Amino acid sequence: MVDTSDEWITARTGIKERHIAGPGESSSTSAFRAAEDALAMAGCRAQDLDRIIVATITPDMLTPSTGCVLQEMLGASNAACFDISAGCTGFLYALSVGDSLIRSGACEKILVVGVETLSAITDYQDRTTCVLFGDGAGSVVLERSDGERGILSTHLYSDGSCGKLLYVPGGGSAMPASHASVDARAHYLKMDGNKVFKIAVKSLEDAALKALEHNGVTGDDIDLLVPHQANDRIIQAIAKRLNLPPEKVFVNIHKYGNTSSASVPIALDEANRQNRIKDNDLILLDAFGAGFTWGSALIRW
Ligand code: ACO
Repeated sequence: MVDTSDEWITARTGIKERHIAGPGESSSTSAFRAAEDALAMAGCRAQDLDRIIVATITPDMLTPSTGCVLQEMLGASNAACFDISAGCTGFLYALSVGDSLIRSGACEKILVVGVETLSAITDYQDRTTCVLFGDGAGSVVLERSDGERGILSTHLYSDGSCGKLLYVPGGGSAMPASHASVDARAHYLKMDGNKVFKIAVKSLEDAALKALEHNGVTGDDIDLLVPHQANDRIIQAIAKRLNLPPEKVFVNIHKYGNTSSASVPIALDEANRQNRIKDNDLILLDAFGAGFTWGSALIRW
């Protein structure tokens, strides 16, 4: 499609394969499959959910929310449902909101989903972005925990002044869809990758260090870092700055590419299924994305 090579993509990003939604698939259908697996693993019925929070920048449509679409698919009739748009940090934003709702006593069981169909907003004529993005979904069920285990902290940050370094200009109220917007390819994701790269490394480091400092722990105490999978070079730079050896850093970007909001929950689930996470392990989540947004969460598993 574009002038690129497997060598360039592998060396610059670490990506080897990606998954792309097929005909008839969308963010809600991927979210549904991840949600069903999470509910089964948690032994939770859909009717017992108080909230469904879907992190996505590629909702099925502008309205209703993909959370409401998913509610109907799951039959989660007692849940209030909404979406969160925070780029690749979306899952951490949703996790933080879910954590707060449970801590406040407002909710008992919350389904948090990170899902993207980035193929719908990827410009396959732009080699600087089209080699990076994939589709996918991951999901967790949150509930109250006793004692020392659970989400120990979440830290979230934004800097709206960098918005246009990574954005989709068309399709919203500022530039409604028109023949002109389609001709200008304005409905596709635009990114200044080089600038994003530099800010991402610094922001991910800051968010991770904030989580450590807040909880009075050091990098040595972390059992596994599960970072947003945007670029293997970014992940390795963070690992180096936190002084984490390779066995303490979970990487699966080679299999999925950058799946934005879905990246952290897909990685978390895969790490769990591969027995890379044991009870009482200290797990650090770290993400950066469009907005700009960034953040971290520290979990005692
Ligand atoms: N194939 C071959 N060459 C390419 C390709 C490609 N697919 N893409 C760009 N190039 C070329 C460029 O044209 C440039 O050529 P030049 O030197 O002749 O001008 C050269 O490769 C280097 O380009 P850079 O943009 O400097 O490459 P960089 O090393 O920065 O890698 C990348 C690009 C992979 C995009 C990197 O910058 C990156 O990962 N950025 C961060 C992405 C990110 O974290 N995004 C946040 C989350 S996404 C979200 O929120 C939805």
